[in-house]
Amino acid sequence: MAKVRVGVAGYGVIGQRLADGVSLQGDMELAGVADVAPTLSVRALREKGMPYKFYTAAPDKREDLDKAGIPISGTLEDLVQNVDVMLDATSAGIGAKNKELYKKYDIKAIFQGGEKDSVADVFFHGYANYEKGLGAQFLKLTSCNTTGLIRAVDCLDRAVGVEKVAITIIRRVADPGDYHRGLTNALQVEHAPSHQALDLMTIMPHVQATGILIHTPVTHGHIITVVATPKKTLSIESTMDLLGAHPRIRMVSLDEGFLGNASLFRYARDLGNPRGDMYEIAAWRDSIVMSGNDVMFAINVPQEAVVIPENMDAIRACMRMQEDRIEATSLTNKYLGIGKWRN
Ligand SMILES: NC(=O)c1ccc[n+]([C@@H]2O[C@H](COP(=O)([O-])OP(=O)(O)OC[C@H]3O[C@@H](n4cnc5c(N)ncnc54)[C@H](O)[C@@H]3O)[C@@H](O)[C@H]2O)c1
Repeated sequence: MAKVRVGVAGYGVIGQRLADGVSLQGDMELAGVADVAPTLSVRALREKGMPYKFYTAAPDKREDLDKAGIPISGTLEDLVQNVDVMLDATSAGIGAKNKELYKKYDIKAIFQGGEKDSVADVFFHGYANYEKGLGAQFLKLTSCNTTGLIRAVDCLDRAVGVEKVAITIIRRVADPGDYHRGLTNALQVEHAPSHQALDLMTIMPHVQATGILIHTPVTHGHIITVVATPKKTLSIESTMDLLGAHPRIRMVSLDEGFLGNASLFRYARDLGNPRGDMYEIAAWRDSIVMSGNDVMFAINVPQEAVVIPENMDAIRACMRMQEDRIEATSLTNKYLGIGKWRN
């Protein structure tokens, strides 16, 4: 079977990682990446010897790219004509504009969490609603927090049924490379309910969800505490077993030295993972407690990398590469090397 041809629009925090993710998938081919300017990521692409073909999404500003010595293979419009599916990881709101181009050439496209839900036919998560994405033209991925959260809630829900969840999101306020002004010595409380809880209900309408989000002046990962009300009895041990069996959840403990978000970031760097990335969320064994019949636990969400596997699943769904969610997610995991730590 011919490899599925994929393009990436927006070579920023998420786009670079999507490009790397696609190039690791044995049954996909990365046709190229597109951006508007010689950003640091685009300059780094050149310095690395152009492993990916670069297309300009702003042909009128081509001169800036030429000045920076960036080899250009064509325009975004050229790239779009040469792919089966585009992953759009442009700055929030631009994807809706690019959609016109995707419609013009009748190709499929997958948008990221910053776009409005209305940009897509299906709001997608690889584990929770893979089947809904089958053959769809336009998919939108959940945000980083929601992607990690749904992995954990869907895992418990498939085993024992989950009636409702209440979450607290301790949200990193910026990515490590960001320079826009942010909080330096303050936590900021968002209006409740958090959009992540509402998004969870869009994908899992049978679960009642609500939550509070607190912006926190750190850059390496979100931490979410989850209180879940199961339909059948759960214990600390059975929760640990269920979460621990999920391919994209890593069980960690304080005794091992995983004290919080920074420990996981450091561990990813010690593993030699590019950019200190980790595709898995982590759940702390020591955080699992019972409150009556409810179970409560804490997860760590590496915001820059966590959505990459679910984007690969989305390509598999919309291109109907696999009809079955376990078959699809397992292939994504295999090509990304997820689960090596279990050996
Ligand atoms: N950063 C995160 O932690 C994170 C996590 C999950 C989802 N997301 C979502 O992913 C999307 C991208 O976020 P990001 O953090 O990678 O942003 P970013 O600013 O790092 O990257 C966006 C890139 O798009 C480029 N761009 C702007 N207009 C363009 C156009 N017309 N055509 C092509 N490229 C264009 C920019 O130059 C930039 O390089 C957003 O929807 C965001 O909400 C971000």
